[in-house]
Amino acid sequence: MSTAPQPAAENLGILLPGMGAVGSTVIAGVLAIRAGLGQPIGSLTQMGRIRLGKRTEKRNPLIQDVVPLTSLDGLVFGGWDIFGGDMYDACQTAKVLDGNLLDQIKDELQAIKPFPGAFDPNFVKRLNGTFMKQGTRREMAEEVRKDIQKFKATHGLERAVMVNCCSTEIYIEPSDVHMSVESFEAGLDADDKRISPAMVYAYAAIKEGVAYANGTPSLAADIPALETLAHEYGVPTGGKDFKTGQTLMKTVLAPMFKARMLGVKGWFSTNILGNRDGEVLDEPENFKSKEKTKLGVLDNILQPELHPELYGDLYHKVRINYYPPRGDDKEGWDNIDIVGWLGYPMQIKVDFLCRDSILAAPIVLDLALFLDFASRCGKKGIQEWLSFYWKSPITAPSVYPEHDLFVQLSKLKNNLRHMVGEDLITHLGVEYYEDQ
Ligand SMILES: NC(=O)c1ccc[n+]([C@@H]2O[C@H](COP(=O)([O-])OP(=O)(O)OC[C@H]3O[C@@H](n4cnc5c(N)ncnc54)[C@H](O)[C@@H]3O)[C@@H](O)[C@H]2O)c1
Repeated sequence: MSTAPQPAAENLGILLPGMGAVGSTVIAGVLAIRAGLGQPIGSLTQMGRIRLGKRTEKRNPLIQDVVPLTSLDGLVFGGWDIFGGDMYDACQTAKVLDGNLLDQIKDELQAIKPFPGAFDPNFVKRLNGTFMKQGTRREMAEEVRKDIQKFKATHGLERAVMVNCCSTEIYIEPSDVHMSVESFEAGLDADDKRISPAMVYAYAAIKEGVAYANGTPSLAADIPALETLAHEYGVPTGGKDFKTGQTLMKTVLAPMFKARMLGVKGWFSTNILGNRDGEVLDEPENFKSKEKTKLGVLDNILQPELHPELYGDLYHKVRINYYPPRGDDKEGWDNIDIVGWLGYPMQIKVDFLCRDSILAAPIVLDLALFLDFASRCGKKGIQEWLSFYWKSPITAPSVYPEHDLFVQLSKLKNNLRHMVGEDLITHLGVEYYEDQ
């Protein structure tokens, strides 16, 4: 059952642990759009429409006209980083946006400064932070909570959402300390090194009733302890790893191969990337986290266990190469070996010359607005209907994730219809022919 949503707050805080390339690009982007200097291209909440009722009714309003969302004018940004400076500095470091554009919003960018980050260099070996909290896990968690309270009080905010945009942490498996709220809190007290900074932020958000999304592949709110806590505190959560470039392509192409019963023998994906994210992912232990979220997609979509003759011996390889000259302008290159009628081989090459943070920024915005809406509808825990935005959508343990982009979009829109009390759309379509 859906609960009627509370109206959108006039002002909403968006808190970003990690105010690097993605974080600064979403902030500068919203400020620029507010100033009339650009358009929110790539954002479903700002530009997307939703069909309501039958096709004969021709009702296709903007999503934001049907779903009560805070307007861009009401958004207030804050966050944490392990390097000081303000958002103008962060944009200069990231080199994503044009200097002329940044100069026109310089004062506003300079007014946004991070709180010191909760960090442990063992989780991100390539970075030597200069602006960090000191103390145990418990002390860091309590400080992050105080930062959230201070941010809300300073800006007179009743509501806030957190979207994790920190560097990818090393790959870790959940262990006993992550299994229950009691063991996790005892671990915070004991400064247990298996509790990552990403978990510290997620814990603080949940305890403060702040909806939480994880834009990185790091293990965070997706541990049993924090899933339980999110239910106890009535906090919606989502993750993980923004689906922006190569995986976005994969989740469009692979469903097409399967829909047409075309075989796939091999899929080789490589990336060259020169930003700080690329540098961190050059470290094998950090890359492993990313590899895991990138690799899961094809098996889930193609279901080799159901179609062994088409996908049973698929060779899937993913590489990320740090190549500084490209900065944030990533090149994602795919070679796909497919098989058709009578086993004849064919090849497809995809060369996506993309801009990493330009693709990620609208996702941060949409997730923040939709998660706040979910929270106002009384939703808590994993929000699977937001799978559309994730490389590795978190689901209930009993179900496998949906990776097909258009299945995810249908799910997202049907959930929105459900939450605003509109009829669901099944695409059955027989009603148009019944009277003929
Ligand atoms: N851009 C994309 O297309 C994309 C897609 C999917 C996922 N991601 C993920 O989003 C994250 C951010 O990407 P980015 O390009 O902005 O990277 P970035 O390196 O530019 O920014 C990350 C920021 O996090 C900070 N940081 C690291 N650990 C921290 C901590 N514990 N507390 C506070 N700050 C911390 C770093 O100092 C840095 O400023 C990465 O994990 C990346 O893998 C990005």
